[in-house]
Formats: sequence, structure tokens, C-alpha cells
Amino acid sequence: MRLLFLMFWFMLQLFINAQTLFSPNKNLKLIFELNKDKEPIYTLLFKDETVIKKSKLGILLKELPSFDNDFIIERYESTEFDEVWKPVWGEVKEIRNNYSELKVTLKQNKVKGRNLILTFRLFDDGLGFRYEFPSSRNLHYFVVTDELTEFNLTEDHSAFWIPGDYDSQEYKYTLSKLSEVDALKGNNANEIGVKSIFDKYGVQTPLMLKTSKPLYINIHEAVLVNYPAMHLLIDAEENKLSAHLVPDVLGSKAYLQAPEKTPWRTIIVSDKAEEILMSKLILNLNEPCTFEDVSWIYPQKYIGIWWEMHVGTGSWNYSDTNNVKLNQTDWSKLKPNGRHAANTKRTKEYIDFAAKHGFKGVLVEGWNVGWEDWFGNWKEEVFDFVTPYPDFNLGELSEYAKAKNVKLIMHHETSASVANYERRMDEAYRLMNKFGYDAVKTGYVGRIIPRGEHHDGQSMVNHFIHTAKTTAKYKIMLNAHESVRPTGLHRTYPNWLANEAARGNEFNAWSSGNLPEHETILPFTRLMGGPMDYTPGIFQIKLDYFIPGKKEQVKTTLTKQLALYVTMYSPLQMAADYPESYERFPDAFQFIKDVDVDWDDTRILKAEPGDYIITARKSKNSDNWFLGAITDEQKREFTISLNFLDSGKNYKARIYSDADNAHWEINPMGYKIGEFIVTSETSLKLKLAESGGTAISFFPATSEESSQIKKY
Ligand code: NOJ
Ligand code: CA
Repeated sequence: MRLLFLMFWFMLQLFINAQTLFSPNKNLKLIFELNKDKEPIYTLLFKDETVIKKSKLGILLKELPSFDNDFIIERYESTEFDEVWKPVWGEVKEIRNNYSELKVTLKQNKVKGRNLILTFRLFDDGLGFRYEFPSSRNLHYFVVTDELTEFNLTEDHSAFWIPGDYDSQEYKYTLSKLSEVDALKGNNANEIGVKSIFDKYGVQTPLMLKTSKPLYINIHEAVLVNYPAMHLLIDAEENKLSAHLVPDVLGSKAYLQAPEKTPWRTIIVSDKAEEILMSKLILNLNEPCTFEDVSWIYPQKYIGIWWEMHVGTGSWNYSDTNNVKLNQTDWSKLKPNGRHAANTKRTKEYIDFAAKHGFKGVLVEGWNVGWEDWFGNWKEEVFDFVTPYPDFNLGELSEYAKAKNVKLIMHHETSASVANYERRMDEAYRLMNKFGYDAVKTGYVGRIIPRGEHHDGQSMVNHFIHTAKTTAKYKIMLNAHESVRPTGLHRTYPNWLANEAARGNEFNAWSSGNLPEHETILPFTRLMGGPMDYTPGIFQIKLDYFIPGKKEQVKTTLTKQLALYVTMYSPLQMAADYPESYERFPDAFQFIKDVDVDWDDTRILKAEPGDYIITARKSKNSDNWFLGAITDEQKREFTISLNFLDSGKNYKARIYSDADNAHWEINPMGYKIGEFIVTSETSLKLKLAESGGTAISFFPATSEESSQIKKY
């Protein structure tokens, strides 16, 4: 009887062509169905409120019948999954991966012998779905010309967006209604070296949306492998977004061979902004790490010969000639320009500084030949990644660093000549192994070679993953700049510590800069996919200190720069200013020295995209906590409870806050530091200046400290 009933139920489901799935806590509901044209349709609800209206799915193929309509449901399978896993490094010690899954196997009347599977995973904080192409009699090699995925919204939401661009994400964010998006206008596009904006209504993911209610909706992707990045095209009349894949030089999107899967399309939803930042959905959709040994991977803070070139007191190039050739130029005969920063003497100063203040890594940019004409010529052979300039003694510096227990961080600017880098990378990594380097920063400034490819196309996506795998083979940690934006692949490749893939602090040195709200948006957008090498910690805010008349400045206060170490999660954090700047403010520098980069726990205490973020994190294997609070151009006051601390315990809180008259423009470097005894019962008052911040370290207090330091 039961069996009969089940069969009847199953038949009925097929007949009504619709299936419903609930998240484990039932807050989210997904409906899958076929419409009258037999097109696959999904709908998403949060607490009974529609988040995504009926939206189409499908894939268009080149010279083959497309996976678009005429579908029949062959089978549904639903499963539940619940596990807890431990990341190699991260914001929390353990991550729960709990979802309900629905797999829909589809076939089409018009083509026999092939299937399309749609897999939906519904978590308590959102939805992930992907297309799967199982191996079948009638599908082997195929070319995707378009993906029909839609995100059909309920109204004209507010969006934090940057222009959809095949080559760059280094834009300022704009907050506007979706219907008001104009990717071609404004947005300081003239400051972006290589850009390919594809449409007035094109935007990038992670896209952060806020509804009038408000509900917070974040759209992105997970596991971007062997496929181009997904941008979104807005249909302003219909309040609809559709997938726009980055094309190759021939206009095709992806070259696939069955069996294959697309990346997951992700929709994270909450009525609390804080929960968006706590979401682990994208990491959970990624594959576990399969490295046998991860003991060589470690989160770290580093300093580097870097900011001085961006500010302009030093140069990457050794000589000011601008016509060199890798195989013909005798570098020792070039006339030095006297400003080359990566010289042996200066590098030793950085190594000494790192050793003295407990930094593990020292990045050195401009150490290798080729910088004389590295940019703008679309030249294939710019760098060889192994030949140092005549004034950089690789062997001597490696010995020097080793003796001081410091690691030099390698720099491989590829000038986007990926062809050249792939040919030379093994030799370059062997050189690193030989001289004791265990981390590399790569860079892709310029137009891609092979010519016609884009930074975010399928071929480059595969290059970045190839680099992560190859560096892992040599036990090298990776930090890629100008890469495609991350999609959680650091779960699988934990040696891939960070990426840039957004507008970093560097823009403050030579452009109109980053707006005061910038760092309150990044965690809701770019950082949803993974850590960013933002390079915080600039103390000397106004840059005319270094070059008289230089008008650029960082648009934050000094203490906001401190708070960024907590609000912008990354296992790799630079102390980006000149060592001399830190020597001038040793009491404020103490926070950068103390703050951790790997965490047992994270609490987002308060957050609102574009306005403010307050985050507290507990250090890995320790009882220390750190707190960062930042605001946009508005000054703000907050009262926060310290109930995250262990109850019944005294902590010594060192509070770094904006001076009373601090202001990002008028008095950005005004700060004060106070020490107090606090407990989990304490309520703290925070006062943030315009584009200001507060940073706090909490250390368990000794009984002596408890009696000597005043209570808050
Ligand atoms: C751009 C990178 O983002 C920056 O960090 C680096 O210094 C320059 N390229 C030179 O490689
Ligand atoms: Ca960059």
C-alpha cells in the first residue's frame, strides 16, 4: 500500500512538473518546474517572501541543439547533507556544511541520448545551483555560446555595483537602483589600464542587493573552474538579471567535454546584513582540499618594497632606458637611475625591520630584469623571472634573510604575458626553492597574451588554477593580483592565500583614490568569494610628506587603517607603509604587530554595506580577541556588548581610536590609545570620526594588570 502510494506520489510529481525543496531550517524554499514551453524554471523564497521570481535556466550550444526548451523530467533525487569540516586556515575553526539537495535529470524530445542535470543545494543562508552534463551517447565535445540563467527580481533593488568588465575589477563601487546602472559612465574608468566594459547595463558579481524591506541578496558563483567568469546583464524594465559569460577571442564562452559541470550560481539571502558576511555557502560548495601535507602553508603578515614605488620615491626599473630585450640587453651595462628600490642595501633594511617586529615575509618587487619597458607594449617576452638586476644580490639576501628567520616573498609580474609565464614558471619556482622563497605574488597588468583572451575568460580561469596547482607542487603559497575574482577555491587549494581582484589600497597613491565607503562595501562584494590582499596599514595618510606637492592621500584616518586588519579578512596581510612610517608611530604600530591573521572564531557585531562594519575575531589557539570598527564618510557612535569574551575573565583592552578632532581629510592621523580592564559584561562606546575607525586588542589580564589598570 505504502509502495503504491509512493509510486502514485512520484508519478504525480512528474505530472505536475514541479518540485519543492526546503532548506534545513525551512526558511528558504525552492520551487523547480517546467513552464509551458518546457523550459526549466526556478523560484526562491525566504520566509515565504519571494526573493527570485520564476527564472529561466538553460545553456546554448554552438552547432548543436541547445539545452533550452523541449525538456522532459526523467527523474528527481533529493538528499540531505550535514557535516562539519575544518579549514586549513580561516575566519572560524569549524564550518558546518548543511543543505538539502535536489537533482533534476532532464531529457529533451528533440535530441535523444543525452541528459542535462540541474543540481540545487539549499542551505539556511542561500541557494547554489549548477548545470551538469553527464557522459552520454550523444554529447561529447561541445561549445557553450551562452548561458540562459536568470535572476528575476521582485523590484528595482538598490545595488552596490562595479561595471561588468572582462579584464578588470579595479573600480569604485556605486550604490544605485538597478535601473539606474550605467557602466559606461563615470566610475573613474580612465584610471583602469586595461578595461573591457561590455554593456551599459553590465555589472560584476559578487553583486550586493538590498530590497526596500530590507532583505539582503548577494549573487555570485562558486567553483569557477574550466569556465568563464559570470557577469550580469540588467533588464531594467523587467527587474531581471541574466548571466553574461566572458567570451574568448572567437566569441565563444566555454569549450567543454562531457562529463562536465558548470560553476555553482549562488544566491545568499538574509534579512540581516551581518549574516551575509558570516555566510560560508561559497566555501561549502567548493571541493575539500586533497593535499596530503598542508604543514608548509601558513597565514602571515608581511612587509615589502612596494609602497615606495606606488608613491613614487622609488622605481621598479633599474635604469631609465626604455628599450630593452631579454636576450640581448646586458643589464650590467645599463645606466642606473639611482631610484631602484629593490637593491641589496634597502632589502636588508626591510629584512632587519621584519625580524625586529616579528613579520615573517618581505616582498621585494622590481628585483628582476625587464621593468624598463614592461608596460603598454603588449610584448611577449618581458620578464624571465630568474635574472636579478645587478644591484640585487639574490644569494647574499637569501642567506641574510635565513639568518634572521625571515622569508623573502617572490614577485612575478607577468605583464599579462601568460604564454611567457607558463613557459618559464617551473624554472622560476625551482629558483624559489633553491633560494628559500615559499610564497609568490603574481601580477597580470596589461592586455593578455595569448592576444585576444581576457583576464576573466575560460582560458585564464584555467591558468590561475594551473598556477595554484603548480605552486603547490613546489610547496609555494600564492597571492595573485589582476586575477579573476575568487569563488572559494582556496578551500581546495589552501596554498592560494589571497588575490587582489578589486580596487586595492594602491589606488590611493596615484589616482582619485578609494572613497571613504570603499572598505565598508568590499566585504559584501569582492570578499564574498575569498580573501583579498588589500594592503592596509598606511600611517602617513597624506603623501606630500614624501613628495612635496603630491596631492594624493588615503581617504581614511590612521586608526581605520588599523581596523581594516580585522574587518577585511585575509590570511595574508601586508603592513604596507614605509618602515620609517611605523618607526614614527610605534604605539599605533603595536596593533599591527599584535593582530592575528588566522582565527578560531569571528563575530560580525554590526554591519551595513556602504556604511559601517564592526567585527570581532578570536585568535587561533589563543584567548586573544581583536576588534575592528570602520565607518564611511559619516562619523558614527556605537555601543557594543563584549559578550563574546569568556565570562568571568578579565581582559586587558588596548583601544586605538580616532582623536576627538580626527577627520579623514582635515586631521587623518589624529589618534589616541587607552588601556582598560574589561569583561564580557562591559558595554563599550565607540566613537568613529568621518571615515574613521577603532581597533582593539583584548588579552587575558594577569592579576597584576587587573589590579593596576583602570576598569572601563
Ligand atoms: C599591480 C599590483 O596590484 C601591484 O601590487 C603591483 O605593485 C604592480 N602591479 C606591479 O606589479
Ligand atoms: Ca592591481
